[in-house]
Amino acid sequence: MKKYNVAVVGATGMVGRTFLKVLEELKLPVENYYLFASARSAGSKVEFMGKEYTVEELTENSFDRDIDIALFSAGGSTSEKFAPIAASKGVVVIDNSSAWRMDPEVPLVVPEVNADDIAWNKGIIANPNCSTIQAMVALKPLHDKYKIKRVVYSTYQAVSGAGMAGYMDLENGLKGEAPKKFPHPIAGNCLPHIDVFLPNGYTKEEMKMVNETHKILGDDSIKVTATTVRVPVFNSHSESINVEFHNQFDLDELKQVLADAPGIVIQDDPENNVYPLALNAAGTNETYVGRIRRDESVESGVNLWVVADNIRKGAAANAVQIAQRLIEYWESK
Ligand code: A2P
Repeated sequence: MKKYNVAVVGATGMVGRTFLKVLEELKLPVENYYLFASARSAGSKVEFMGKEYTVEELTENSFDRDIDIALFSAGGSTSEKFAPIAASKGVVVIDNSSAWRMDPEVPLVVPEVNADDIAWNKGIIANPNCSTIQAMVALKPLHDKYKIKRVVYSTYQAVSGAGMAGYMDLENGLKGEAPKKFPHPIAGNCLPHIDVFLPNGYTKEEMKMVNETHKILGDDSIKVTATTVRVPVFNSHSESINVEFHNQFDLDELKQVLADAPGIVIQDDPENNVYPLALNAAGTNETYVGRIRRDESVESGVNLWVVADNIRKGAAANAVQIAQRLIEYWESK
């Protein structure tokens, strides 16, 4: 099998470092790695796969060499500027920012859901929002079977989703220090405010969940609403998902549909206090589903509690899995 050259942009960040961990774990056929970050960390050393790598400053010339895939997680403006430069030089960018997600020319991929969309990439593939990814893993098999009419998302999102600065706000906040990243203390608090507010009163994070659900499931007729909340948890997003279907369902069958779906681990034994927990999901690539119960207030509906590590399945693991599928696609051609 051919070996590929992979670049990591934002290699010193929260997601970037996890790219490296997951690349190592999933054993992609990689010949050379190139690590990029801002000028601030140029020259710093990173230990990876038994070798020491030197972080380079990302510049317009960074992709003037034989790079096949670039995993980007260095913020939206870096992606906006540098992803097209990389793509113009024959690199396929897998971008973790929101910059390209809703571009109709850019596939938005959760490998368990729509890996086939990788085939029509034009040099950029977008990694969805962290909260959307885990929701899609759980909802896709249910949509295929019962056709979703409406979804209500309520999220409980970890501080690591706001990068290193978000993580430090909780760590320092627990010691009594004032926040630097969030507009209010996150220790002992819940902030119903993730990303910026939009004219419709929703946050950008909430609208990402609405729009990305439509794009990934390929169905704009689904009614979606969301409330996204930052909670004092270091890692893993938890989500209450209320789903209404067009078709009737049998609850045991629905549980089996979820259990048989790729990427899902069912944890649903409330009598023994078994349900998905942020602490248990942290450090893993799976999506955990539990508290599966009929919504008795509607004709055909269900409530789910869905948890996944936001830095892994919500970002780095999903992106590396996209890279894995992209390589499989190239190899199959
Ligand atoms: P650096 O460490 O040099 O600032 P996080 O979201 O966890 O804070 O990580 C952000 C990542 O994006 C870091 O690796 C950071 O590098 C990188 N980054 C931020 N701005 C730029 C930029 N303009 N060019 C390249 N990398 C950047």
